[in-house]
Order: sequence, then structure tokens, then C-alpha cells
Amino acid sequence: MRYFLLSFFLGVFTLPTPLAAETGDDAWLRYAPVDVAMRGRYDRLPAYVAALGDSVVIKSAQAELIRGVRGMLGRTLRAERDLPRGSAIVLGTFAGVQAARLAIRLPTGLREDGYWLKTITLNGFPCLLITAPNDRGVLYGVFALSRRIGLGEAVSQLDEQQAPYAPIRWVNEWNNLDGTIERGYAGPSLFFEKDDVVEDLSRARDYARLLASVGINGCVVNNVNANPRVIRAEFLPQLARLAAAFRPWGVRLGVSIDLGSPKIIGGLDTFDPLDPRVANWWKEKFDEIYRVIPDLGGVVVKADSEGRLGPSTYGRTHADAANVLARALRPHGGLIFYRAFVYDHHLDWRNLKNDRARAAYDNFHSLDGQFDDNAVVQIKNGPIDFQVREPASPLFGGLEKTNQAIELQITQEYTGQQRHLCFLVPMWKAVLDIDMHAQGAGTPVKALVAGKTFRRPVGGFVAVSNVGRDPTWLGHHLAMANLYGFGGLAWNPDLSARRIGEEWTRLTFGHDLRVVETIANILLQSWPTYEKYTGPLGAGTLTDILGSHYGPGIESSEENGWGQWHRADHDGIGMDRTVATGTGYIGQYRPPVAGLYESRANCPDELLLFMHHVLYTYVLHSGKTVIQHIYDSHYEGAEQAERFVGQWRSLRGRIDEPRYRQVLARLEYQAGHAQVWRDAVCNWFLRKSGIHDAKGRVGHFPNRLEAESAELEGYQIEEVKPWEAASGGKAVECLSSAPPCVASFRYEGKPGWRDVSVQYFDQNNGASRFKLFVAGQLVDEWVADDALPSRRMGADSSTRRKTKGLALRPGDEIRIEGFPDAGESAPIDYLEIRPTARGVPGVSLGERIPRQ
Ligand code: GCU
Repeated sequence: MRYFLLSFFLGVFTLPTPLAAETGDDAWLRYAPVDVAMRGRYDRLPAYVAALGDSVVIKSAQAELIRGVRGMLGRTLRAERDLPRGSAIVLGTFAGVQAARLAIRLPTGLREDGYWLKTITLNGFPCLLITAPNDRGVLYGVFALSRRIGLGEAVSQLDEQQAPYAPIRWVNEWNNLDGTIERGYAGPSLFFEKDDVVEDLSRARDYARLLASVGINGCVVNNVNANPRVIRAEFLPQLARLAAAFRPWGVRLGVSIDLGSPKIIGGLDTFDPLDPRVANWWKEKFDEIYRVIPDLGGVVVKADSEGRLGPSTYGRTHADAANVLARALRPHGGLIFYRAFVYDHHLDWRNLKNDRARAAYDNFHSLDGQFDDNAVVQIKNGPIDFQVREPASPLFGGLEKTNQAIELQITQEYTGQQRHLCFLVPMWKAVLDIDMHAQGAGTPVKALVAGKTFRRPVGGFVAVSNVGRDPTWLGHHLAMANLYGFGGLAWNPDLSARRIGEEWTRLTFGHDLRVVETIANILLQSWPTYEKYTGPLGAGTLTDILGSHYGPGIESSEENGWGQWHRADHDGIGMDRTVATGTGYIGQYRPPVAGLYESRANCPDELLLFMHHVLYTYVLHSGKTVIQHIYDSHYEGAEQAERFVGQWRSLRGRIDEPRYRQVLARLEYQAGHAQVWRDAVCNWFLRKSGIHDAKGRVGHFPNRLEAESAELEGYQIEEVKPWEAASGGKAVECLSSAPPCVASFRYEGKPGWRDVSVQYFDQNNGASRFKLFVAGQLVDEWVADDALPSRRMGADSSTRRKTKGLALRPGDEIRIEGFPDAGESAPIDYLEIRPTARGVPGVSLGERIPRQ
């Protein structure tokens, strides 16, 4: 009985051991111990790991397997160089297997980087063979085996052949030599610092390992807006160090180069690609580079784009420019990736026939067949620039005799910059699966870019990743699902987004079913949610395109030459890209695709405003008017973002505390910023269209108290620009020489438990402090020290502090004291008061606050 009681108490009152704290830097390669209940599955895993061959890649494969098995199963495999007399995991290329005279018939037709996992008997012992045409394939086989164990899958009877869908699976890192990263949101560069390659390359090595684990085989380390110095003779030994850091992981180094280099650093008076002196300069340059880095994968070129030099200087074509490089690279086996992101950013916006979306096709289609075989045209997924929703670039279907690669963006430049969660795999899949009818039906983008449709020698997948030194790599733990997912799709674009999301979650957070389901669901809903509260119906970005590309800035895309126009006016919205009356862009698609987009009736709602200009009263397939859809979707999106917070909270205790808290903080911030988006966009369209929200929400904020209507001491009322970035277009700033400044509000609602949100601006040029008092009692204080991307009051810096569970009575004074710091003047926009939700510990909704 005593024993029973003791165990009863232990069972009931012993709290589960807290999960070990994690930083995220192991990403999905944590090799967390396999659950005891599942370990039995791996009892018969051999004790030896024999590596046939001693290339650096085979060596890392062997070491990686030992590391993985030790972490997951708590056993240290014995490393062998030859086949041991015992049960072993045998690693080797086909050549290695043949040299060791193993009696096995090797598969024919397995492509480079593919692998074979095969349970066999060798010398009478059960063995597991991991073999491949090349050593990188063996490494991939090792990662596949480890992944199986990490996912709890059986490994006792294997006969699995896998090969990548396309040979090119690269990432681009827009790192500058000074250590900054263009459109990077996770700290400084892993590769460069103060115009040199960093001393300590351990993080670069870890990154290459992560890349290899999902089959990525090339990494371009510097910005496409390239500093020509990167290929100067004196810099090459530094690049060679990076190549050496990547090499054990089968990741080939790539560099971005400036087409003007022969003139800028080469001492020539020209960079004309057809000038023999220029051709010779490139030839000698690449001979020199390959002497130092014999396995350089290739180069990327951004030319005639956004101010970069290009062949147009000499009236030459992009094919001329690409080929002069291709020919210099060819003897060394290098590739040239020539970006199709070429457009005029000084377009006349008054001319309704002008259209930036046409640019890639207009510039490259007529050159089809003129590019050398080691040149690859690298095409952004959509015709504009990584917007939340774009159709597939028509150029994918417009090149038959040219190698192509799709360029995707992992770094979330226009999709929330890793402060908002946006799992992009469903969006990428939507584009990859579009049938371009390039050769009749059945030619989806994925087949075209992989070179399958027109039997091209190379092709594939590139993503702009922009990881940084933040321990989470991308700045948000959950954003890593995008890097994992990119690797997954580049290897097999037929994988479902759910499978990728669940697999990534298991490897990153463990197998607790609630965790897996909740996170996978949040991931899968995150892109549609982001689209809903930012730019629905294919209107493209409604963000500040002239600056940060982050918060709402609806008019910033209009009346300038950048061509990201949505053409919203008093009556309607959308770009008319039809052949009949518009820019003719739709005519760049093959007839079956063009037919779908040209007619309003057929055009899918989600791309309507990309293809057509319509009245706000136009009725969508859904039966709603365009304007009501805009209102509804923004409200739905913001509500969904708020729900993510609750869903994540339900995981408390099931995820280690640091990662739990860090993600929670990001999701809470996102929920607040989604409201900033919602209000800015809805208010703007209400003012522009004059059409009211049928549900009466837009422009009515009954729970809101504007700072400009508060009683102010020291605070000054200011206009915020653009007006839609602040509630009522105004905010208050503490410019007083005797801070703190004070804003006092009077609560006139019913008594009860309330959450008070203070909407304020957290600029990046100071760290103001705030104190919140209710009826003279200090109830909260905080520092505005987030690093949001703006020095000004506006939609980028607008954020909130939610103080939950405050007991309020009518007549209470709610007082905010603001303490400015440096350039930041403790600005406040408004206060919002809502009933505290059920489920907050110790609080029941509507409970009366007793009168004193
Ligand atoms: C976007 C981005 C730039 C980048 C460019 C490119 O316009 O904002 O920072 O240089 O794309 O892809 O070249």
C-alpha cells in the first residue's frame, strides 16, 4: 500500500523533466535520442562502418554516420577502412565497391548524386551497403539513412534507390564582402567580414553540412550585386578557403561576378563581350581561378539590371555576354548562371502599356538557342520579384534550346522577413506544378527547369537563402522549414508540402504527435494567411517597395519607374495585362495558359488583379465583390495570425523552453503586425473607393483609444506618413526636454478583466522605455529595443505590447509614461482594450471587479 501511495504521488506530482534547451543551430540535424520504445528497431544495426575509399566526402560520410548513430542510438560505430569480418555498414562509390571486389551487381542508370541503400550479405555477414555513382551520392545516402532513423523508420531490409530530379540544386547567398547581407534577416555573413573571408569558418562548414543533408550541391557566396574585387588575384586564396570548407560536404563554391570586371579590375578599356581582348581576359581569369580552386562550380551574373553593367553598353545581347564567360569556363567544367532578372526600372508609369512583368520574356525569348551548353538562364519564379503570389514566369515555357533554372527565395524579402512565419513550400509547389503547355500538355515548370522537357544537358533549382550568424540561421526557428523544403523539392518536387512540413517538424522538434500536427498545420496555413493580410487576389506587393519591402505602403509602388504597379484608383484595381486591351503580357504564355488568364471569367481569383484591372464592385468566383474580398481577407488573415499564437501556446512543455519562447515571441509580434497590415490596407481602400465594409469593421475601432485624443503631458501630436501606417493617421511623440512624457486615458467600459494593448513605434535608432499604470499602479514596463527595419514612425516600426489580465473599472486612469532614447521619441499610436480571453490562469471572463 505504501508502495502504491508513493508511486501514486510520484506519478501524479512529478513534473515531466524539462526538455533540454536548444539554440536551433543544429537545425534538423539534431540527432536527438530515439525514443526508447522505438530503439529496438535498430538493435540489429551493424557495429562497423567501413569506408571504401578515402576522398574527403567519403570521410565526412563515415564521420557523419558515426555522429548520427551516436546521437540517436547512443552507440559508437567502429570506423573501418576495409570490410571487417562482421556485420557492417559499407560506404563506397561504385568504383570503390568494384575495387573492393564485392560480389554485387550494381544498378545501371543511377544518375550522379543518386544513391542505393541495400541490405546484402557480405562474407556471410548481413551488411548494409550505401553506394552511389559518385562520392557525393554516398554522402546523401548516409544522410538518408540517418533521416530514416531520425524519423523512426525501419532500416533492417532496405533496397532503395533515389536520384535527384535535377542536377542543379544550388543556393545563392547575397553576402557582401564587408559582412552585410543584402535582404538578409539573420545577422551578418558567415563568410565575409571587413572585406575579407572570416578567420573562423566553422559555421560555414556547418552550413555546408546542412546543405548537403538535403542534397544541395552548390553555394554562391556573394551578392549578385557583385563587388568585382571578389575575383582579384589577391582575393582568390581567400575564396579557396571557402571552397575547402564546403568540399567535404560535396558543396561546390560559386561566385557572383561583375560583367564589367575586365574594365574595372582588369585594366582594359572595355568589357565588350565580343572584343577578343575581353574574351582573352576572361579566359585567363578563369584559368587563374581554377588553378586556385579546381572544383569551382561556376559563376552568377546579374547584368543590365537595377543599375548593373551589362552587354547593352555595347549593343550586345545577353547571349553574347553569357557565352564569353561560358567559353572561358568550359575547359574547367564550370557553369555560368545568367540571371533573367533584367528589366528597366525607369519605366514611364503613365503609359498603361508599359509592363515590367514582360521584361524577362522580352529580353530572353528571342535569344533561345544562342546560349552555350554550359550557360544556364536563371529565372525568378514569377515575372516581378518574389511577391506573395505571382504566376509562373512565361519564360519557363518560352525557352526550348536553352538551359534554365528556377530562382526561388528562401529569405523572406517580401513575405515577412522571418518576423512573420511564411512556409513557402506550398507557394513554390504551386509554381512548379503549373503546366506551361510548352510541348502540348504535361510540361510543368519543374520538368522544364530540370531540362526534362527539351532534354537539356543541365538545369534545376536555385534559391536565395541568405542565412546569417543568428543561431537559428534564418532568424526564426520555423523559417528553417523553408531551407529544408527547398532541398526537398529540388531533390523531388513531387513531395507534398505536408510531408515536408511534418518530416521537418519531427526532425527539428521530435515526434510528439500534438507537436507534429500543430506545427505542420501552422506551417501549411502560414502562406495563405500572410497572403490574406498583405496582398490578396494577386495585387502583388502592397508593401513599401521603395524602402524595406516589409510593412504596408500601398502607394509606394505607384507613380514611379519600378513597375510594381497595382493601379488602384477610386474605381478599381489591378494591372490590365490582357492581349485585348492591356500590356499584352498574357500573350507571352502558350495559348492554353494564355486562354486561362486572358478571360476574366476563367482567370483564377487569386491572380485576377495580376492579370486584369477591375472595378471594386466586380464579383469574384466566390460571389464576393473585390472590395469586400479585400476587407474580409485582411480580417481573416489577421485573425488567423492571432490563432497561431494560441496554437503555439498549446505546445508549452512539449518543446524545449528557449525555442518555445523565441517562436512564441515572433508569433505574438506577427499577430500584432498582421493587424497593422489589416488596418493600413483596409483603411486605404475604404478611403480610396468610398465603399464601406458590409460587415461594418473597417474604420470602426470601438475598443481603441487614440493617443492623439489622450490627455498629454510633454507628448506632441504628429502626422504619420503614409497616413494609413497609424491609426487615425496620427501618433504622439515625446520631444520634450523633460521626459518622461505622459499620455493618460480614461477607461469608460464595463468593469472586468481586460487585456490592454499599447500600439507604439519601435524604431531602430533608439531604445525608448515605457511604463503602464492603471489607477496609479504600475502594471507593466518595457523597452522598445526590437530591431525593426525603420528609423521612423510608420508601418515597419509599428508594434504592440499586450498586458493581459488587468482589472479595470469605469473611470480608471490608464497612464503611459514614455522615456525617449537617442533618435526614438517613445512614440505611441493607440491603446486597445479587450476582454481577457478564457484560459488565462486565475482569470475568468467577465468576473466583476469589486468596488472598493
Ligand atoms: C530584388 C531585391 C534586390 C536584389 C534584386 C535581385 O529587387 O530587392 O535587393 O538585388 O532583387 O534579385 O537582383
